[in-house]
Amino acid sequence: MKKRVDVAGKVVLITGAARGMGKLWAEHFARDGARLVLWDLDQAELEKTAAELQPRSGRKQGRWRRADRPPSDVRTAVVDVTDSRRVHEEAAATAAEFGPVDVVVNNAGIVAGGKFEEMPEAKLAAVLDVNLKSLVWLHSAFLPQMLARGTGHFVNVSSASGFIGVPYMPTYAASKWGVIGFTESLRLEMELAGHMGIRFTLFCPSYVDTGMFRGVRAPLLVPLLTPEKAVQQGYAGFRRGEYMVRVPLMVRFTPALKALLPQKVFDSVSEILGVTTSMRDWRGH
Ligand SMILES: NC(=O)c1ccc[n+]([C@@H]2O[C@H](COP(=O)([O-])OP(=O)(O)OC[C@H]3O[C@@H](n4cnc5c(N)ncnc54)[C@H](O)[C@@H]3O)[C@@H](O)[C@H]2O)c1
Repeated sequence: MKKRVDVAGKVVLITGAARGMGKLWAEHFARDGARLVLWDLDQAELEKTAAELQPRSGRKQGRWRRADRPPSDVRTAVVDVTDSRRVHEEAAATAAEFGPVDVVVNNAGIVAGGKFEEMPEAKLAAVLDVNLKSLVWLHSAFLPQMLARGTGHFVNVSSASGFIGVPYMPTYAASKWGVIGFTESLRLEMELAGHMGIRFTLFCPSYVDTGMFRGVRAPLLVPLLTPEKAVQQGYAGFRRGEYMVRVPLMVRFTPALKALLPQKVFDSVSEILGVTTSMRDWRGH
């Protein structure tokens, strides 16, 4: 049976928290009384987000109750998650000054869309660094602390493109396949070693209207999600203790369809639904 996840009073780190879905994850955690550690590259936006969240943390039914309010609710840091030295340094500082981290939401991500052969190598490297390598650094920084305490939870943000091929973003898709492969392997490794207190959630949304995928044409049966709806479903799944949260519904069936249908048939279905051409007019950030 899945074990429900409590967050009240827990220390939750969210990467890429200044805007988009990261900010919304932070809002959900704050509403439920978590203490937040927010990392991003964009200091100005991060400070704004923190200022908006500060009064909400620990609030009950719209009013402050002094006794419920933790001593310090939000800690921000400008951290480039691709910089493993900085990640380790800030992880240690957070544990010492704010408390050990209970939940890490690996949300920071970037995309580079367009024809592969026209893509500068530096851009491709950045996609792998931010979306995949950073995941490794964050786990290597926080897992030892969690193992020592016997408890911890990683929420790793993948994508619907973590299951299928999507033209005009092969490197992004590869990074998101990688997120699933990494999480799956480490989850099993923890289970084999009997570390049952270390938990994982994979969040795999299709296109979400944050600006990252501006210009895409949402495939049939896979509507463009509002960021609010996507994160609300992701957060609800995480709280229910689900390992894999795929939204919208069609994304849940994708791996099964891919396994059952012959490749050519699956490719045709993909084309008819408009998955294959969805990124052709991408002009997001
Ligand atoms: N938007 C979508 O359609 C969609 C779909 C599936 C999955 N995702 C994934 O969801 C996550 C959030 O996406 P979003 O649409 O909210 O993005 P967004 O662009 O709105 O926000 C991403 C945040 O990450 C930060 N960031 C980027 N590089 C960083 C770095 N090196 N270090 C620290 N912070 C960094 C940015 O400054 C920004 O605040 C990403 O992992 C993305 O790949 C997005």
